[in-house]
Amino acid sequence: MAKRIAVLVSGGGTNLQALIDAQGRGEITGGRIEAVLSSSPDAYALERAKNAGIPGYVVNRADYDSNKAMTLALVEQLKELRIDLVVLAGFMTILTDEMVDAFPNAILNIHPALIPSFCGPGCYGLHVHEKALAYGVKLSGATVHFVSAECDGGPIVLQKAVEVLPDDTPEVLQRRIMEQCEWKLLPQAVSLFCQDRLRVEGRTVRIL
Ligand code: GAR
Repeated sequence: MAKRIAVLVSGGGTNLQALIDAQGRGEITGGRIEAVLSSSPDAYALERAKNAGIPGYVVNRADYDSNKAMTLALVEQLKELRIDLVVLAGFMTILTDEMVDAFPNAILNIHPALIPSFCGPGCYGLHVHEKALAYGVKLSGATVHFVSAECDGGPIVLQKAVEVLPDDTPEVLQRRIMEQCEWKLLPQAVSLFCQDRLRVEGRTVRIL
């Protein structure tokens, strides 16, 4: 049975688009994107879902008092949709433990840096690249990891690096990392999960 995938988004949704395109090319083996859930009603990612014929749902952060209350609403919706794999693709709310408990080793996140660098609370989106440039690193990249109770701290599935160039701005570096790392790694990791080829052994993910 194909695994039922939900993609959680908050913004532009280029990583969602990479997943949709990979699915269109037949590269998500053993899984299908069944739903897109957005933390904001204005996210352009919802347009992308609509254009691809994928049902979109809004679980608006602004409607909830806390991250925990929002997480519980998301879990309920995901369970109702009988989701097997939750993919955080530019999802900007920190989920609470209830999500990890409901989907143990079944939530993947894409982070735009080489974890454990430039990650954790407050390190998201363009801020990540601002911090990498301010630090002066010569390499940065992206990481796909399983989501655990610790923000950006779960077992690493895939990583890819690119060079940081002398005249990079945060926007230029972000674009290079998206094009060369994120849009490739995320569909690969999702496809591996859907083929039951990811085995978590402590902090290590073995690719079968
Ligand atoms: C991506 O670069 C993603 O890695 C990052 O936000 C961007 C979303 O872009 N995610 C995080 O920083 C999570 N900590 P997108 O909406 O175009 O996919």
